Amino acid sequence: MSDSTSAAQPTAASAGPKSGRRFEGQVAVITGASRGIGLGVARRLNAEGATVVLTARKPEALNEAVATFPEGTALAIAGKADDPAHRAEVFDTIAQKFGRLDVLVANAGINPVYGPLVDIELDAARKIFDVNVLGTLAWVQDAVHHEGLKFRENKGRVVTLSSVAGQVPSEGIGFYGISKAAVSHLTKTLAVELGPDIRVNAVAPAVVKTKFATALYEGREEQVASAYPVKRLGTPEDIAGAVAYLASDDADWITAQVLTADGGVVTAGGSA
Ligand SMILES: NC(=O)c1ccc[n+]([C@@H]2O[C@H](COP(=O)([O-])OP(=O)(O)OC[C@H]3O[C@@H](n4cnc5c(N)ncnc54)[C@H](OP(=O)(O)O)[C@@H]3O)[C@@H](O)[C@H]2O)c1
Repeated sequence: MSDSTSAAQPTAASAGPKSGRRFEGQVAVITGASRGIGLGVARRLNAEGATVVLTARKPEALNEAVATFPEGTALAIAGKADDPAHRAEVFDTIAQKFGRLDVLVANAGINPVYGPLVDIELDAARKIFDVNVLGTLAWVQDAVHHEGLKFRENKGRVVTLSSVAGQVPSEGIGFYGISKAAVSHLTKTLAVELGPDIRVNAVAPAVVKTKFATALYEGREEQVASAYPVKRLGTPEDIAGAVAYLASDDADWITAQVLTADGGVVTAGGSA
């Protein structure tokens, strides 16, 4: 039996998408954003109205990237994602300049080693875990605890970067996959803890054509892409669209999710 007086009904006004500029007046920080997926995300959020703060280790490339944004809408702060002093500088600067934070995209991630898990140097494994897992957690902790950002009051949104390598074991990048499986679980756990004020979701890409993934497709792109139902590899823009959706009000009822953005490759039996 249906009761039209109590059930929420779609109206002309509620038919989405809500607007082409879903982040008007909002402030977003994107870590690891001088190139690749992070830069793609920063461009998308900025195009939809956000003032964006971009981070990366090397200041030259970061400054060059920020110089391509409309004046006064993007800021570069260089530093290492797993450095507490860098995070403090980023959040203190945002609090001082803008007095608010709305979106945190914890994108910075590393994979400095390639080879079988049984041979991985434990110091390399620790570094991967420090940046990818503890770094991601620490960005969220610091955003939530910084009173000058009003992250809870603004109904803050966090999007983390996981990977299909965290869902299906991928040869040669085993510990990286383990770290991304941890990022996915971290994301869900944070979402449960931080609701209803803050939504936390992840995007898990397969191979996206960036510097990071070059070794996975260079010289054999067509062959790698043939395993993907969409018959092409991902682009930073593909991932930016997924991140922007999760960070927007269009996803207001969506939290604790890992959105696989992989051209269908995992379902088709492939991996990263
Ligand atoms: N590309 C893929 O196929 C793929 C697939 C699944 C998941 N992902 C994930 O997506 C995220 C972005 O990857 P991407 O492919 O865009 O990589 P990318 O093209 O290599 O870009 C990485 C960005 O992060 C910065 N960065 C690297 N290490 C950092 C650190 N320790 N602290 C702060 N910034 C750092 C880099 O600049 P600096 O070198 O100057 O620091 C650069 O701006 C990562 O978390 C990755 O694991 C990528």
